[in-house]
Amino acid sequence: MRVAVALTPRAVPTPPAGAAVAIDVLRATSTLALALANGATRVWPVATPAEAQEQKRRRPEALLCGEREGRRIEGFDLGNSPFEYPPEVVRGRELIFASTNGSLAMLAAAGARRRLIGSFVNAAATLAALERERDVLLVCAGKLGRFSLEDAAFAGWLCAALESRGAVLEGEAARLARTLAPTTPQEVHALVQGASHARYLRRIGAEFAKDVEFCSGLDTIDRAFEI
Ligand code: MLT
Repeated sequence: MRVAVALTPRAVPTPPAGAAVAIDVLRATSTLALALANGATRVWPVATPAEAQEQKRRRPEALLCGEREGRRIEGFDLGNSPFEYPPEVVRGRELIFASTNGSLAMLAAAGARRRLIGSFVNAAATLAALERERDVLLVCAGKLGRFSLEDAAFAGWLCAALESRGAVLEGEAARLARTLAPTTPQEVHALVQGASHARYLRRIGAEFAKDVEFCSGLDTIDRAFEI
């Protein structure tokens, strides 16, 4: 198996071969892992609120979800907090999802044969879902087109685990990410809590600190998700 990492969506080779994992630890792929575990049936990532409205015209039953600057987009059903996606709200529903960075990572991974979403909350399950792949691309959302530590660290966690199973890391981004890999739940927690986007979220409201705490957990969800 060959494993490569794109540290931002713009760094994705087009089209991505094999399986691609979109990664946005804070918060999109952590939130969507919970939403799908709670029974949401499909995720339609879009780049802008306007595109989301356009999709809504075609899929009137779907929920409009997304954030800008961390807050729910005006007129949308749900924001980007995992606590807005309980079973009674999302079971059996499709989600049109417009977040700032996570959506771009999911869209950048669109050309891959298999497209997964992954985060520390479903790390082991995502790893297991990749085991038979020949080519894996890990797509980090980053923040506004720039590097984000928590996404690269989760890509590194996957790189380290896949390498220990015989995979070959391709390119400097994968080797860099590998060096950032946390090894214990405590290291995962400290790394995510210390990330700059975590500090931003805590600054905009106490309720967002709960979200950061959720996203700092390791393997709280035992399923992998393809979108
Ligand atoms: C994103 O997709 O940009 C992030 O998940 C932003 C956020 O924390 O809401």
